[in-house]
Amino acid sequence: MSQSLGIIGYDFVEFYVGSAKMCAYWHAKAMGLKITGYSGPETGVRDRVSYLLTNNKIKFVVTSAIKPSNYEISSFVQKHGDGVKRWALHVKDVKKAYDIALKNGGIPSRTPKKYENESGYVEEAALKLYDDAEIVFINRDNYKGIFRPGFGEPIQKINIECEPTGLIEVDHIVGNVRVNEMNLWANYLNETLNFETFIEFGEGDISTKYSALLSKVVRSKEGAPVKNPINEPFEGMKKSQIEEYIDEYVGSGIQHVAITTDNIMKTIDAMRKNGVEFLTTPPETYYQMLKEKGIKITEDVAELKKYGILCDLEGKGYLLQLFTKPISDRPTFFYEIIQRREGAEGFGQGNFQALFESIERDQMLRGNFDKE
Ligand SMILES: [Fe+2]
Repeated sequence: MSQSLGIIGYDFVEFYVGSAKMCAYWHAKAMGLKITGYSGPETGVRDRVSYLLTNNKIKFVVTSAIKPSNYEISSFVQKHGDGVKRWALHVKDVKKAYDIALKNGGIPSRTPKKYENESGYVEEAALKLYDDAEIVFINRDNYKGIFRPGFGEPIQKINIECEPTGLIEVDHIVGNVRVNEMNLWANYLNETLNFETFIEFGEGDISTKYSALLSKVVRSKEGAPVKNPINEPFEGMKKSQIEEYIDEYVGSGIQHVAITTDNIMKTIDAMRKNGVEFLTTPPETYYQMLKEKGIKITEDVAELKKYGILCDLEGKGYLLQLFTKPISDRPTFFYEIIQRREGAEGFGQGNFQALFESIERDQMLRGNFDKE
């Protein structure tokens, strides 16, 4: 019986980007998040700038280097472009979680440390993940201030008008890895974090006429709402979208973060009005098939079609989802918007074909579809 790490749930996700200010503005305007924290020279941090963006339980941080000496951030962005540097798990006891994780094979990235100021302290430690990412353990039970020491109220007077999007919390975080790395990282998360493999998509499960991938979903065994799918490319006629990611990101890393809503039509409508680009809508036949399956869903299929929302009926309940186009310059990181209905536990396997065909159309436009 493996020891519990005391995982409560996801905490924050931090991106390293070229310009934190621009990226924060986009998240506020397009995603409807609020800029609720800031860290930079004015708060005593001299080599980087970070903005905290929040809504309901969502905590995203966008950070950029403001000195060439900050090699950690600038080298990450130079190599990968804008991307997720770390995602954090809220744990009851950082040192305990870290010690157990290390004993179980976790690769250390940062040893447990207290970050203190007049508002109290935050404890953090981190493990290595994929090529250049980190899993952070965090506890801020003893901290009354904004986010963590080094952060304060945003000093910028940016008045951003947008349609409210109603985004609630992180549902799952997905990694893309190289051929033969999926099992390595799935085992790593399972052993280190007391996770288990929950769903497996093998050869032939996820493929279009042209390309394919393998996927495993691991989740916390401790009942915490933490799920991490891991994808690897699989041999097909054309280049797998996972291979495109690996080439363009220059390594393995985080592919997408899925965020929940309790009214996906409203959310997608608002995000479209705010200027978010989504993957192209599936063909008419997709919605025809939904109707023909005759399964009862609360939503009107014509409405789903209007907003281009996908609906997956696999397993228990059903889920509604939609994927944005890559949010930055490289075809790498994107967001998923998801609404789970009636206890749906899946990840949209029934939609993979429609989704991948849509990605393939974009891949073709980028000239990344044919193998070299
Ligand atoms: Fe997903």
